[in-house]
Amino acid sequence: MESTNQIQGISFTTLAETYGTPAYIYDGQKIVEQVKTLKNAFSSVNLKIKYATKALSNLNVLKLLKNAGTGADAVSIEEVQLCLHAGFLPSEIMYTPNCVSFAEIQEAVALGVMINIDNIPMLEHFGNHYGKNVPICIRLNPHILAGGNAKISVGHIDSKFGISILQIKNILKVVETHHLDVIGLHIHTGSDILDADVFLKGAEILFDAARQFPDLKFLDFGGGFKVAYKPGDIATDIADVGEKVSKAFQEFCAEYGRELELWFEPGKFLVSESGFLLVSANVIKSTPACTFVGVDSGLNHLIRPMMYDAYHAVENVSQHEGPDHVYTVVGYICESDTIASDRKLKEVREGDLLVIKNAGAYGYSMSSNYNSRLRPPEVLILDGKAHLIRERETFEDILKHQVDIGL
Ligand code: LLP
Repeated sequence: MESTNQIQGISFTTLAETYGTPAYIYDGQKIVEQVKTLKNAFSSVNLKIKYATKALSNLNVLKLLKNAGTGADAVSIEEVQLCLHAGFLPSEIMYTPNCVSFAEIQEAVALGVMINIDNIPMLEHFGNHYGKNVPICIRLNPHILAGGNAKISVGHIDSKFGISILQIKNILKVVETHHLDVIGLHIHTGSDILDADVFLKGAEILFDAARQFPDLKFLDFGGGFKVAYKPGDIATDIADVGEKVSKAFQEFCAEYGRELELWFEPGKFLVSESGFLLVSANVIKSTPACTFVGVDSGLNHLIRPMMYDAYHAVENVSQHEGPDHVYTVVGYICESDTIASDRKLKEVREGDLLVIKNAGAYGYSMSSNYNSRLRPPEVLILDGKAHLIRERETFEDILKHQVDIGL
């Protein structure tokens, strides 16, 4: 993992002076480069990228991605509204909810987005209500166990997501009864998937199912490309996945008799590496066991280390020199919110600036006000210029929706 003390020529020190800490900083150029890399890898097929909005849902990031030529994947009606607000056309938005009410699906239909249905009762409701008048996609559970860890592996047989591929006959029965217009099939196996073979296995499952649906326009392979979190980590080889999946896809389209669109819904791949959580060292505390660096952030801003035991590289980006020492970086929350254990960092002094890397995906979007702490600002760097794209919260935000009943 490269050492860095600046983004597009703007130092972290300048960013901290301007916006304070903690702050989320995003490198817009990196996001656009990732879109290009993905497009290049799949240049021989009709690729549509549906950015997984949940990874990082700031309006400006959505607009940046839209301008770079992606569509969007939304998992809630609010994300659909956000994507429309950002300027995506309804036809560019895929709505992939799980366990929502039929009323929410009706709202999404009214907004004109593509509906991805993930359970049979909902398929029946949909059939009763809309029949063949609204085209749909069906989310299949491919029964593939893959992904970084159990919490982010969602395509296995015990997962709540999608309709089992063992229930294809049941799906076909509902489709036939209601003359449903199925134009897409979808799978999402999980997050942090390294191996091209997992995507190929998913492809074969999608192709098998697709043979039963004569009117398809697209196959959606979901997201899940792995990014490098640790130094020396291997990321998904996108060129390799692109080559292998595109070849299999072209062969399938030839058999199917029509060129279909190939959809992917990456989140991490597009935005993870672009993001840095910039924090300050409040306390350096030596104990008989280790030396802690306590920073002005914690699980309220970045929950991934606690929730998934996720590794995030940390660097001391202060300008002074000093020998390396081993530290355990912890947050200021009243929980054991360890951000990074036993890491070698340039000597940390009180007030030093640290960056937590790979914080673009599922960082801000999973943040909270736990301990009644404020969420940090978000800053997007574009063409060598920093833009504040979300203000730091204030104490008023903590009170905003509370109702004082006058006790
Ligand atoms: N499509 C669907 C239907 C999904 O559920 C997800 C992620 C994606 C696409 C994007 O997956 P990605 O390319 O980002 O791996 N919060 C966890 C990851 C959970 C992802 C949930 N679904 C984390 O921080 O590791």
